[in-house]
Amino acid sequence: MAIRIALIGTGAVGRGILEAITRKDLGIVLTGVADSRSGMIHSDGISPSDLLSRKRETGLCGDVSITADDVVRTAPYDVLVEVSPTDAATGEPATSYIRTALSRGCHVVTSNKGPVALHYHELKQEADKAGVSFRFEATVAGAIPILHTLLESLGGNEVQALYGVLNGTCNYILTRMAEEGLSYKQALDEARALGYAEADPTYDVKGIDAAIKLVILANTVLNQRITLEDIDITGIDLLTEEAIRLAEEQDATIRLIGEIIPGKNLYRLSPRIIPRHHPLVVHGSLNAIILRTDLAGDLVFSGKGAGSLETASAVLGDILSIRDRYAGGN
Ligand code: HSE
Repeated sequence: MAIRIALIGTGAVGRGILEAITRKDLGIVLTGVADSRSGMIHSDGISPSDLLSRKRETGLCGDVSITADDVVRTAPYDVLVEVSPTDAATGEPATSYIRTALSRGCHVVTSNKGPVALHYHELKQEADKAGVSFRFEATVAGAIPILHTLLESLGGNEVQALYGVLNGTCNYILTRMAEEGLSYKQALDEARALGYAEADPTYDVKGIDAAIKLVILANTVLNQRITLEDIDITGIDLLTEEAIRLAEEQDATIRLIGEIIPGKNLYRLSPRIIPRHHPLVVHGSLNAIILRTDLAGDLVFSGKGAGSLETASAVLGDILSIRDRYAGGN
C-alpha cells in the first residue's frame, strides 16, 4: 500500500530522503514539497528525481507563490515529513508545522530536535487525541535506531544507565585532533565542510546539541520529565590540544560523553578521559550508545550520527512503520 507524504525542507536531510525514494521503490508518494522560498502541491504525486534536478538547476523546489505553510495546511498527505531548517532553541518553524498537521489528523515524522525537546508531552497528547503517530527517530544518534529499540524491543526492561557519544561534530573534532594532530579550529572547519555541524556550530561544541538529545531520550523513552536546565553541561570548546595529547600518552583518549542514570536523577554531558579500546571510543562522525538494563544486560550500539542518507534512513523507517501500522490510511 502506498503512503502519501508532504516534505518540508530540502536541505541535507530532505535531499537524502528524495535520493532514497528515487533509488528504491518504497511505496512512498510525494504529494507536497516546500523549501524556505517555494513549494509545490500535486495530488497525483511529484517525481522525486525531477524535483532533485529542478532544485539543482534553479535552487527552488516549486512555485514561489506557494509557501511551506500552504503545503502543510492544504496538501493531501498522510504523513507530514518535517525536516525544515529550524532553530533548536525555539523549535520554530517546525513546531508550528507539526501542530497544524496534527490538527488535520495527519501523522508527523520530524528530524528536528527543538519541537521534541521543548514540546514532546503536548505534541504527543495532540497526536494521541487525533489517533495518529508522532515519530522522531532521526533526532537522536542519526542512523542508530535507539528510540525504537528502547521503546519497542526493550520495553520490558528497566534502563539503569545510558552512556552515549551523541554529537558527530564533536566526535569528529576529537578524533582528528588526537589522530592527525589537527588544531581545534582546523578540525571544526573540516566538520562544517562535511555537513556534520549545526547551522550554528556553537550548539555542537558547547554541548547543547548532545544535551538536547539527552533531554529527548530521557523524556520520550526513559519516563523522565526534564529540561535542558536539568543537565550538567560541559562542551569541548575549552578543551586544549595539550589535554588530548596527555590522554593519548596514557593509552587513553577524550570523548564527549552524555550520561543518564534515572535512579539517581543524574543527567550529565562532559568530556571524559576513557581507555582507547572502550566501546564508546568511536571515530570520525560516529555516535555510540551503551545501555545498562536489568533483563537484557549491557548493550552497545554504534553508527553514523549525522549525514544526509544516514539521517534519511531514520526518517524513512518512521514513515514505513506508520504505513505498516495504519495500513488503509489514517
Ligand atoms: N550536528 C549534529 C551532530 C547533527 O554533529 O551530531 C546530528 O544531530
